[in-house]
Amino acid sequence: MMEINRTRRLRTNSNIRNLVRENEVRIHDLVYPIFIEEGENIKKEIPSMPGIFRFSIDHLKAELDEVVELGIQAVLLFGIPIEKDEIGAETWNDDGVIQNGIRFIKKHYPNLFVITDVCFCEYTTHGHCGVLCGTEVDNDKTLINLEKQAISHAKAGADMVAPSGMMDGAVQVIRKALDGADYKNVSIMGYTVKYCSSFYGPFRDAADSAPSFGDRKQYQMDPANRIEGMLESTYDQMEGADILMVKPALAYLDIIRDLKNSTDLPVACYNVSGEYAMVKAAAEKGWIDGEAVMMESLLAMKRAGAKIIITYFAKQAAILINKK
Ligand code: PBG
Repeated sequence: MMEINRTRRLRTNSNIRNLVRENEVRIHDLVYPIFIEEGENIKKEIPSMPGIFRFSIDHLKAELDEVVELGIQAVLLFGIPIEKDEIGAETWNDDGVIQNGIRFIKKHYPNLFVITDVCFCEYTTHGHCGVLCGTEVDNDKTLINLEKQAISHAKAGADMVAPSGMMDGAVQVIRKALDGADYKNVSIMGYTVKYCSSFYGPFRDAADSAPSFGDRKQYQMDPANRIEGMLESTYDQMEGADILMVKPALAYLDIIRDLKNSTDLPVACYNVSGEYAMVKAAAEKGWIDGEAVMMESLLAMKRAGAKIIITYFAKQAAILINKK
């Protein structure tokens, strides 16, 4: 008989398994998305995302106390304004919901790292991610407004901005605008490889940002494409992105790995609303162990090559990690 190669030897007890473990989810890897709604006395759970709420600023404190207490050190903010218009002008209102939210957070939690989503879909009446020209989003007109929005976020105190609209040249114009306004240390996370995905469904309920007609296929990437993701990554790097993100995460682990193998920049992934909802729904039915599947999924993202994971699970994962 051939001699047996015994890989099981290193699995015999938890000590040796701990010693040889290659990847680990750390609380410091996690970014927690937060929906801030304009108005007062709002704390509304999102039906398709149990445990995730829209908060008005006056209700943010309890949530953020918990986030900070758990050791989570970075949040990603989304704004839900009262007023929408054709172009999303409210996005660069220095007194807007996000700007006020940033100032509130920076005042009470100066050490919390604040990333802002820079987009228009929550702020436009038509729900598309920029300025419309007929029924299409005009790339270059949108760029001009992206600059204004990013500057306004930086002025309010954002540490990092994350343009999510998949407009060509977004990173470049935002970098130039930030530098020109002397926000040289405000960093940019590109939503570099963002697919036109059905996994965003629950988010669009949460942020009230579904397109009122058509879809986002003219700007977000075709899920069939892989090489194109590498092209997006090359351009975002040339344009000055500090971090490259892949979105969604779980169905796109191959893309995370491709990116990791081709860049020296930190790679992030966005574990999106639909991925969260699926785990929650199956767990609620008792069909899976929700916590175990959550941790296994996050670990898979790390193994694929993501350093940073943006996830609605951040608090729940941190609770488990702290218990270990
Ligand atoms: C805005 C934006 C979206 C998400 C993040 N930023 C929605 C979209 O592109 O339609 C989705 C996040 C999620 O599903 O959790 N452009």
